[in-house]
Amino acid sequence: MDVISVIRTKRDKGELSPEQIDWVIDAYTRGEVADEQMSALAMAILLNGMNREEIARWTAAMIASGERMDFSSLSRPTADKHSTGGVGDKITLPLAPLVAACGAAVPQLSGRGLGHTGGTLDKLESIPGWRALLSNEEMLHVLDTTGAVICAAGDGLAPADKKLYALRDVTGTVEAIPLIASSIMSKKIAEGTGSLVLDVKVGTGAFMKNIEDARELARTMVGLGTDSGVKTVALLTDMSTPLGLTAGNALEVRESVEVLAGGGPADVVELTIALAKEMLEAAGIKDADPAKALKDGSAMDHWRRMIAAQGGDPDATLPVAREQHVVTAPSTGVLTRLDAYDIGIAAWRLGAGRARKEDPVQAGAGVELHAKPGDTVTAGQPLLTLHTDTPEKFDYALKSLSGAWDIAEPGTEFAANPIVLD
Ligand code: URA
Repeated sequence: MDVISVIRTKRDKGELSPEQIDWVIDAYTRGEVADEQMSALAMAILLNGMNREEIARWTAAMIASGERMDFSSLSRPTADKHSTGGVGDKITLPLAPLVAACGAAVPQLSGRGLGHTGGTLDKLESIPGWRALLSNEEMLHVLDTTGAVICAAGDGLAPADKKLYALRDVTGTVEAIPLIASSIMSKKIAEGTGSLVLDVKVGTGAFMKNIEDARELARTMVGLGTDSGVKTVALLTDMSTPLGLTAGNALEVRESVEVLAGGGPADVVELTIALAKEMLEAAGIKDADPAKALKDGSAMDHWRRMIAAQGGDPDATLPVAREQHVVTAPSTGVLTRLDAYDIGIAAWRLGAGRARKEDPVQAGAGVELHAKPGDTVTAGQPLLTLHTDTPEKFDYALKSLSGAWDIAEPGTEFAANPIVLD
């Protein structure tokens, strides 16, 4: 087999054979196919697509590139959730302990942020002492003893995806439905969860900007999961405005703890409960009441145990950025748009995110929202507070906010998008 013929097949809109797929993934993982060759193939896939059989084989080959985890020793059913990424998307933080409190085991392998979307591990690392890197044995131990674990995927899990995702990230080939679906599902299937709920985000702050693409991505992933014996469902959810009132690492941990304490912003609570219900149903757990578990402290108890089991201090004071800058509303009226992408870029520029994988992030940096679409604002009132340790970045962040909102005449009727679109 030679890689040029594989690239040519896809370049010329042909179908890759199972043998071609198995060979190219294996050869790329071993370093026999060069990055420039794989990036040519990824671009051909982005431009010409793959059919269902090709996507299934590509996913299987990525799973076969590494190890598979096994949670069969656990006494509870496993349920995982994956979000395709958004701005202010801190849902995993309250969700994992909540679903654990309702009786499932939640093995949550998470990632770091890149670009304008935040990463769950970066958020949790703002808790003093908390560790994202666990061995497989430690992961199983935390899961068994606390009911939930949130950690980084080990190097042995789908190594082909690790290499390919890093390459796609720097070659403009992330936004291909076959590649996104196979990337996400190879990790989830190799992880060994019994059931999986996918939160496929739609809107300016998401990979998928329109609902048709999001639906196709969701259907592709649900098909891959189901064919592999993982009970998989997907929700399409709104990402046109940030979730909750914060985007940034420690800021989002603080807001998640508010949700676990029975408070927090209505949209975060609504989505957390909607996803919890889907996870519990997929795991076959009936009669659990996630709304009650948020109110009665049981989800908070699971959070505290999960954080402590990974070295974190759940009572520690969270880091606060050294400098703040308040952005005020320029006019009085109804806020009809607050753009998720622009806010995500501002948070990233303030230091909450990274431009390259190896960059550090600031724990306290980010954007706090003082109003959401539908709220009436008065000229001069605080609209946003920007947080950073590096105030020289305020101007750069403010540039990304120049067209971030619309304020309509006072009294304008406004209907917000539902959080769960489908
Ligand atoms: N998340 C992933 O894990 N892979 C992708 O390709 C996109 C988002």
